Amino acid sequence: MIELENPDHKSGFFIFSRRQTAIYHLADPGGTAYLGGMKKIGVLTSGGDAPGMNAGIRSVVRTAISQGAEVVGIIGGYSGILEKRFQDMNLRSVANIIQRGGTILKTGRSLEFMKPEFRKQAAENLQAAGIEGLVCIGGDGSFRGAHALWQEHQIPVTGIPGTIDNDIFGTENTIGFDTAVNTALECIDKIRDTAASHDRLFIVEVMGRNCGLIASHVGLAGGAELIFAPDLVITVDQAVERIKAGMNKGKTSSILVAAEGQKPGRAYDLAEQIRKKTGLDAKVCILGHIQRGGTPTANDRILASQLGAAAVDGLLKGERDVMFGMQGNQIVKVPFETATTQVKSTPKEYLNLANILAN
Ligand code: F6P
Repeated sequence: MIELENPDHKSGFFIFSRRQTAIYHLADPGGTAYLGGMKKIGVLTSGGDAPGMNAGIRSVVRTAISQGAEVVGIIGGYSGILEKRFQDMNLRSVANIIQRGGTILKTGRSLEFMKPEFRKQAAENLQAAGIEGLVCIGGDGSFRGAHALWQEHQIPVTGIPGTIDNDIFGTENTIGFDTAVNTALECIDKIRDTAASHDRLFIVEVMGRNCGLIASHVGLAGGAELIFAPDLVITVDQAVERIKAGMNKGKTSSILVAAEGQKPGRAYDLAEQIRKKTGLDAKVCILGHIQRGGTPTANDRILASQLGAAAVDGLLKGERDVMFGMQGNQIVKVPFETATTQVKSTPKEYLNLANILAN
């Protein structure tokens, strides 16, 4: 049995000890000790797909079955509940998926589910199918939906953070972030070859929506000359100053990393302004959806495996309306409301260090 340790009411997290992550795998195989009456649960993926979601699904399905519960896979995220796209899962349904990117359950951003009348319909569909609780793997929009389902219809939901953006408060990393950073980094390393060969300036735009975490990590790891994050503004004049200073020190090529911010494609505006002020032929490369695909890294698979198990264990023990995340190698439980209303900021120290090291 997992007990709460160190309830930290100020931060809104509850912290489990690392030791307890191992207990999930030993828990009462085939028994019903923790079921609390729940016999059948559903699992869905929602929002943008992220590498490691499949490892999360695998963990949810196998943990639940090991604890005596049946599992239904919901196809296509919240729309799948409305369309009753329910699929019984067994141990073999999740075989050979731990290494696959994307999500075998498909995903989507359901506009209908944002409306109360459709959530009512969803709750009725779940009840009619005997699905007593849900594990939701997704990002902030998905968790807002999960929170509403609990608040309005008392459908018990726990969640695990699956998004490349790493913009979910209360967990150091989200599932998919590490893989996306490494994918973007591989691309930047390739761009550097051509930038250096042609003595060119490149602006590489990475994803992350309103969050600068992909940009800051990729920028520091990729040796970028400058990093543009949505919450740490650098003006074009400041950028131009740095580019010129670099050239005066003998630099012949530069890589600038820009987070897409609220406006994907903003790298083109930036390039245009830099071109006008420097006369340099600034090239743009928008990495886009390539960052969402590919084989998940070991870190993402481990994170997904641990959190998937925690989310099932929590649900079966009576947890509701919470996400399970990881902080300092410990599994933490964070209310959906906290996870979706507080923001993570871009680490300024990454940008400062990148500036010094790119000298
Ligand atoms: O949330 C993940 C993400 O890839 C963001 O980084 C990006 O802004 C958005 O999804 C793109 O969404 P879509 O694939 O629906 O265009």
